[in-house]
Amino acid sequence: MKKIFAANWKMNKTPQEAFDFCEKLKSQGQSQLISNNCEVMIFPQNFSLQRVSESLKDTPFVFGPQEIHFERSGAFTGENSADIAQAMGAKVILLGHSERRQLFGENSISLNKKLRLVQSLKMTPVFCIGETLDQRKAGKTAEVCFEQIQSVIQLGVDLQSQIDLEPRFILAYEPVWAIGTGQVATLEQVEETHEHLFKFMTQSGFKNFSILYGGSVKSDNAKSLIQVPHVDGFLIGGASLQVDSFLKICEAH
Ligand code: PGA
Repeated sequence: MKKIFAANWKMNKTPQEAFDFCEKLKSQGQSQLISNNCEVMIFPQNFSLQRVSESLKDTPFVFGPQEIHFERSGAFTGENSADIAQAMGAKVILLGHSERRQLFGENSISLNKKLRLVQSLKMTPVFCIGETLDQRKAGKTAEVCFEQIQSVIQLGVDLQSQIDLEPRFILAYEPVWAIGTGQVATLEQVEETHEHLFKFMTQSGFKNFSILYGGSVKSDNAKSLIQVPHVDGFLIGGASLQVDSFLKICEAH
């Protein structure tokens, strides 16, 4: 199976900077990434989607927004439409990032609606989950992660259609305390949680899914992290902002 390397640029890069990144990625990394069996996903800030789309069309690299509204269109001033992103060529959508949950009130109800929309558009969700430091200290990591997945599904997304979700369901396990802190989870912590998540997803009936790790992934820890069982790739924030450091992470595979 291809390993997935997803760049979450958060609120960074002008459209021109985003375009330049993609052009450089194509010229420096395309053949290497393809021969290394890597799948690359770029999540730019929404104003930059158009330029990213111009650069990445007719390439194997996919892209998509970091956030969408759960309605397809209408009177929702300031919101972003998944349909419009799809019309720009987006194939993937980031959902439930901890910054959205913590800073912008994202919850299971809105995520459930968003997941359904992504599903109906036949786009691929990259669904983020993860525990806070307090939850980890209380020994609740697996419980919190399962609950984050289950609550969204139980709220009404039909499990069967989730299982059939095409092309697939991508989970991104990101311990909240490891995001942007430089404090990467230990290999044992990643292994334990990914093992739990793999079992949970399999027992829930999911067939076509991947589990990414995210949280302070850098070129120097990527090599060991990618070898952990059930780590199918990474969701990368800070280290994805420069082509060189992003490519170094992809080379870890
Ligand atoms: P980080 O961010 O790599 O900068 O820790 C990861 C993320 O938030 O997706």
